[in-house]
Amino acid sequence: MEFKLMPGGTISGEARVPGDKSISHRSIMLGALAEGTTRVSGFLEGEDALATVAAFRAMGVRIEGPEDGEVEIHGVGLHGLKAPARALDVGNSGTTIRLLSGLLAGQDFDVELTGDASLQKRPMGRVMEPLARMGAQITGADGKPPLKIAGGSALKGIHYDLPMASAQVKSCVLLAGLYAEGRTSVTEPAPTRDHTERMLRGFGYEVKNSNGVISLAGGGQLQGAEIDVPADISSAAFFLVAASIAPGSDLLLTHVGINPTRIGVINILTLMGADIQLKHEREVGGEPVADIRVRYAPLKGIEIPEDQVPLAIDEFPALFIAAACAEGRTILRGAEELRVKESDRIAAMAEGLTTLGVGNEVLDDGIIIDGGPLGGGVIHTYHDHRIAMAFSIAALRAEQEIRVLDCDHVATSFPGFDALARGLGLQVSALAD
Ligand code: S3P
Repeated sequence: MEFKLMPGGTISGEARVPGDKSISHRSIMLGALAEGTTRVSGFLEGEDALATVAAFRAMGVRIEGPEDGEVEIHGVGLHGLKAPARALDVGNSGTTIRLLSGLLAGQDFDVELTGDASLQKRPMGRVMEPLARMGAQITGADGKPPLKIAGGSALKGIHYDLPMASAQVKSCVLLAGLYAEGRTSVTEPAPTRDHTERMLRGFGYEVKNSNGVISLAGGGQLQGAEIDVPADISSAAFFLVAASIAPGSDLLLTHVGINPTRIGVINILTLMGADIQLKHEREVGGEPVADIRVRYAPLKGIEIPEDQVPLAIDEFPALFIAAACAEGRTILRGAEELRVKESDRIAAMAEGLTTLGVGNEVLDDGIIIDGGPLGGGVIHTYHDHRIAMAFSIAALRAEQEIRVLDCDHVATSFPGFDALARGLGLQVSALAD
């Protein structure tokens, strides 16, 4: 499937984007390992989260739904998973493979984890290393999937200083820690999303955070819970940028998760001059939520503060489009993690920006973007959902038509993106390749 976008348009109205991907994954994982039933609403019915559902079904967990975002998980307890009949294929989902590696390291059965062509290129050494230190037996050629995990290892708690700011690695180690003898603790070079810690507490499991040392003791129990998944700020980000760059726009995004470890996109856009207001701030099931109003405002280029990078890590494709539409130069550094996402997002975005005639210079750990007029052209997405959505919204300020190739992966995080975007004013049509 490809998206064809006519240039121009304004973004207005009200919308609730699909549920948070990170929280949806964790709701299935912890619900499956809990005692009793877990009911989830607002669940993301995207391919990545569905891959997590399928993996737990394959390990004997009864999961009803999702239907209209409702899921019911009949937990089997921390020791109730069964050996799957075949390798678990988690598709495109880095979160599933990295978090599952941690919790499967503590089981008494062997398991193999694999995924699609893009996932098979992504680095897994970052989870293999701490798990091996805990006593797990995990192998993967060149540190890439497929990963083989041997059952029956006695895990021991360790302290792990994360070498990179990664919530997936942090979560992997903490989930293995549920099965380890003694305490498992981690420190991170910069705060990353804390949904695992929050949700563990919501399931009645004690997680301590003292002066940045996050820790838990193995051998406890999880109690089934009710989870209301907020709308994903990473999906909302495309519309925060879309409304900011398209003159005349005025949009309300409802029920968006505004966890402080996720709001880098709001902070960065605000520094660029965006008109963003949080309304009706509230807490839903341990996660802060708000309605967000965003109106068009002329943006200016900035030097992105490095402390915001982990807090906006998935939002840079959208933010690069904001930078392309801003007056002046935007500089991003300290973002080497972008090179190992679903695609090398620095290279993929630089290529597309060049196609549209936007001046840019690629750095090892970031990019320099000079705002200016956007032309049109054909964009390659490298099978990356967020590259596809970023260049779709760029059409609002383009002078000619944009064709975004290979958009099937949009469904991993944002099923129905094109229909929702069309309803809000983006002139997009989806065409079969
Ligand atoms: C995620 C963590 C981030 C993010 C990914 C989801 C999570 O990855 O990019 O989309 O749910 O823990 P890293 O841990 O690799 O930074």
